[in-house]
Amino acid sequence: MKKRCIFILNFGLFILISSFVLSCGGPSDGRKIFSLPHVLNTDHPVHKALVKFAEEAEARSGGAIVIKIQPGGTLGNEQELCDNVSNDADAFTKISSTILETKADLAKVYSLPYLFRDEEHMWKVLDGEIGRELLDMALEQNLKGICYFDAGARSFYTKKKVESPGDLQGVKIRVQKSVMMQKLVETLGASPQQIAFSELYTALDTGVVQGAENNIPSYYTQRHYKVAPYYVFDEHVCIPDILLMSASRWNQLSPEEQAVIMESAEAAKEFQKELWKKDNEEQIKKMEAEGVAFTRLKNKDAFVEATKAIYDEFQGTEIMKYVERIRSVE
Ligand code: GCU
Repeated sequence: MKKRCIFILNFGLFILISSFVLSCGGPSDGRKIFSLPHVLNTDHPVHKALVKFAEEAEARSGGAIVIKIQPGGTLGNEQELCDNVSNDADAFTKISSTILETKADLAKVYSLPYLFRDEEHMWKVLDGEIGRELLDMALEQNLKGICYFDAGARSFYTKKKVESPGDLQGVKIRVQKSVMMQKLVETLGASPQQIAFSELYTALDTGVVQGAENNIPSYYTQRHYKVAPYYVFDEHVCIPDILLMSASRWNQLSPEEQAVIMESAEAAKEFQKELWKKDNEEQIKKMEAEGVAFTRLKNKDAFVEATKAIYDEFQGTEIMKYVERIRSVE
């Protein structure tokens, strides 16, 4: 009787533990569960593309690959998230590629002002040979580039109207954790302040900075337009977002699983390209209705001229070779 009781107890315990392991998706059920933290809000088109990426990966792997997205910067700023993938603490992250500067000098290429002629040129470069080479620029730091996402063009937005570099003199402008972005803002005569993305609303609201620069979806989804309602389309840089995976985890995947990741990323990227245009237009209309003043410049010459000197220090470097190759892409 006693033995029977012990057997029933052990069997019950076994069932309990097994169902717990299953619900957690532990290794015993064969599923691979990966984390993907990032800093954007859930209404941002890049977040929506990441959701699509996770859905595609789960469907294409028959449920064997599960990607858990943690939005909103709850797990850290972009530099920390990048470090976490590099150290293998997280499997994936999505960051602005300018953050990769701390891992690979070549990341500076994408932060150069007025590098691309237009959006079509940018995608030809990103989808082509150069883009593919640069995806893996930080492989030695355990960072495998999976794909780019459209992050459009970055423009200035401020508490007071700005129409030319002259209006930016001495104005405190938030920048990302990037030497290149710091230089760019300095070159224009403004005063760069490095502040994490999630802290920017408060910094603008309390006047720690009087402006920032970003694309339309980030300006809108972070509600920055409420506290800095002047947006000038100077479009000084087009820095793509990049989806990164820990290279060591990538190497642990089978060729079939690697194909699932790449095909899912491709599907998510194409989905996001369309969504980006739609969201941009809708968000501009919504902000205009709320009184945001958008300045559409007749030409950007004053900004182009004022930022040209940034290229000087790169003459004769590997970075400049990339610039020349990018410029020659028709
Ligand atoms: C872009 C980019 C984000 C980044 C943000 C920033 O919106 O998509 O990844 O965090 O810029 O300025 O920090």
